[in-house]
Amino acid sequence: MANGILKGKKGIIFGALDENSIAWKTALKVREEGGQFTLTNAPIAMRMGKINDLAKACDAEVIPADATSEQDLNNLFSKSMEVLGGKLDFVLHSIGMSPNIRKGKEYGDMNYEWFQKTLDISALSFHKVLQVSEKLDALNEWASVVALSYIAAQRAYPDYTDMAQAKAMLESIARSYGQRYGTKKKVRVNTISQSPTKTTAGAGISGFDVFFDFADMMSPLGNATAEDCANYITVMFSDYTRMVTMQNLMHDGGFSSSGITDSLIEKLTK
Ligand SMILES: NC(=O)c1ccc[n+]([C@@H]2O[C@H](COP(=O)([O-])OP(=O)(O)OC[C@H]3O[C@@H](n4cnc5c(N)ncnc54)[C@H](O)[C@@H]3O)[C@@H](O)[C@H]2O)c1
Repeated sequence: MANGILKGKKGIIFGALDENSIAWKTALKVREEGGQFTLTNAPIAMRMGKINDLAKACDAEVIPADATSEQDLNNLFSKSMEVLGGKLDFVLHSIGMSPNIRKGKEYGDMNYEWFQKTLDISALSFHKVLQVSEKLDALNEWASVVALSYIAAQRAYPDYTDMAQAKAMLESIARSYGQRYGTKKKVRVNTISQSPTKTTAGAGISGFDVFFDFADMMSPLGNATAEDCANYITVMFSDYTRMVTMQNLMHDGGFSSSGITDSLIEKLTK
């Protein structure tokens, strides 16, 4: 059921790779609620993914950008304002990648060049997005910028390795840039800490199925799906959340506040 809560709003959605992507579901939801946007992804992902199908469904233009490149980001923001006919009201940063995880490196055997790549792609790119948008004065007052995080920023997970540091940095950037951007332009910056979700990025982590099931049992409401996340992001882009900024918002069915649950007790009772 659509309510038009994003009617008249314009933005950019990063990170839709295929129909499982959180960004993909978000694009569909934002469109349904009346928002208009450009879609973007890294040029290499664009060749592998199906972003053009999504673009058709959302009546959106695709503008390739490697989120680690300030030049690409400058081009993306400038072109988006051109295409959409003015400044923007929302940005979704839905980007994550660790070469160490991809290549199965253990936490005690990190390749540091790759570690820096993880941080650059998954965290620093968020700062670049914010800095480029500020320098171009690309965002309207009360615009909302959201990035996606994971609870491994606060708690240790053996197989999440260097992505844990990337998420901690991402959340820290949301606080620091949120303070600056709020003061200067009334722009809001938040991260949403999402349940484990079956996507390309999620399934790339070894043992994913086990911690997906564990999180499901530890969450009174169960794991939040990608569609649930898309709904939450949509509300965060709307005027109904105007005073929310500099937060890491838990979107996890109650996981982060649970000590143990009945279903886990049942499972572990011998
Ligand atoms: N899937 C989960 O379990 C889960 C849980 C919590 C948070 N998240 C976060 O949600 C976000 C979206 O991930 P997803 O689960 O939808 O997976 P996904 O694989 O569909 O999306 C990740 C996206 O990052 C893009 N990307 C990688 N390098 C890039 C670059 N240099 N420039 C631009 N884009 C680049 C990929 O092309 C892809 O579209 C990520 O930040 C991820 O860490 C995922």
